[in-house]
Amino acid sequence: MPEEMATTSHAGVYATRVIERRELAKDVVLLRLDAPGLAEATRPGQYVMAIPPSGEAAATALAIYEAEGKRISLLFFIMGRRTQELSALGSGDCLSMLGPLGNGFDCSGDPRDAAIVAGGVGIASVLLCAQALLRARARVRLFYGARTRELVVDAQRFRDAGCDVIVTTDDGTLGMQGMVTDALALAPEPDMIFACGPTPMLRSVARIAADRRVRAQLALEETFGCGVGACWGCVVALAGDSMQAPNFPGAARGGSDIAYARICREGPVFWAHELRW
Ligand SMILES: Cc1cc2nc3c(=O)[nH]c(=O)nc-3n(C[C@H](O)[C@H](O)[C@H](O)COP(=O)(O)OP(=O)(O)OC[C@H]3O[C@@H](n4cnc5c(N)ncnc54)[C@H](O)[C@@H]3O)c2cc1C
Ligand code: FES
Repeated sequence: MPEEMATTSHAGVYATRVIERRELAKDVVLLRLDAPGLAEATRPGQYVMAIPPSGEAAATALAIYEAEGKRISLLFFIMGRRTQELSALGSGDCLSMLGPLGNGFDCSGDPRDAAIVAGGVGIASVLLCAQALLRARARVRLFYGARTRELVVDAQRFRDAGCDVIVTTDDGTLGMQGMVTDALALAPEPDMIFACGPTPMLRSVARIAADRRVRAQLALEETFGCGVGACWGCVVALAGDSMQAPNFPGAARGGSDIAYARICREGPVFWAHELRW
């Protein structure tokens, strides 16, 4: 059954200012920013294209971790040149960004018992979703997987918000040893799953959801080129009748039962049962 995701229409370029920089773990940075306009327009699962201040590197996609009042925060892992440059920002520095972008999580279906699955940096995409579900009085279980104890960041933030948090680590240094999807598979069945993390984790979540006949929304994190729908470098195959398929007859549908969508524009969140990967 084709369904619609939450759509966006308030994207713009915003000049934001850093008000706090914290290092949550080695090479994991939380930036809090004054971002009037952007904060109010943000919905769960959306992201920004943050423009590194030197202008020498391309913009980078980062989820909006928190959005409250006129402030947002970004939580990112230092991976390469762009995130390195962003990590050097401190209080008072300016950061331009384009956003909020993408179609985020649909938290409106009134789930009573939601499971959120986050792997690695995927944790940055799910806090707003958890908060929206909790506001709607759902029970929210966060299944949070990381490689090792030091990389489990800000789990307490989710507990404080009201989530039950189940941690897994690959090496068993915190929580259950194994994959986060092992913990999901063992747990009592939720009535909706929301997930963000590496592609193998998302595929596994999709399989578990299909086996249990539970609907799942997956936030895909691919490497973006432009991040705004122009280059078609982030394409994923969807069921031909998906509401998220772009409406370009020749280019997207090609007369088959498959349609191609851009993760940056039509996603990054898709219904698991509509993905053809
Ligand atoms: C919609 C979206 C939201 C994202 N949100 C966050 C977030 O909130 N926090 C966060 O830490 N990261 C997030 N990412 C990933 C982030 O965009 C990349 O880590 C970042 O662009 C790396 O840029 P760089 O120049 O520092 O490193 P690069 O030099 O570009 O990359 C360094 C290494 O990281 C790998 N890499 C790059 N991009 C990705 C990616 N998207 N997924 C997996 N591996 C990648 C590369 O293969 C390379 O090995 C998000 C990505 C997308 C598409
Ligand atoms: S990254 Fe260019 S279209 Fe998605």
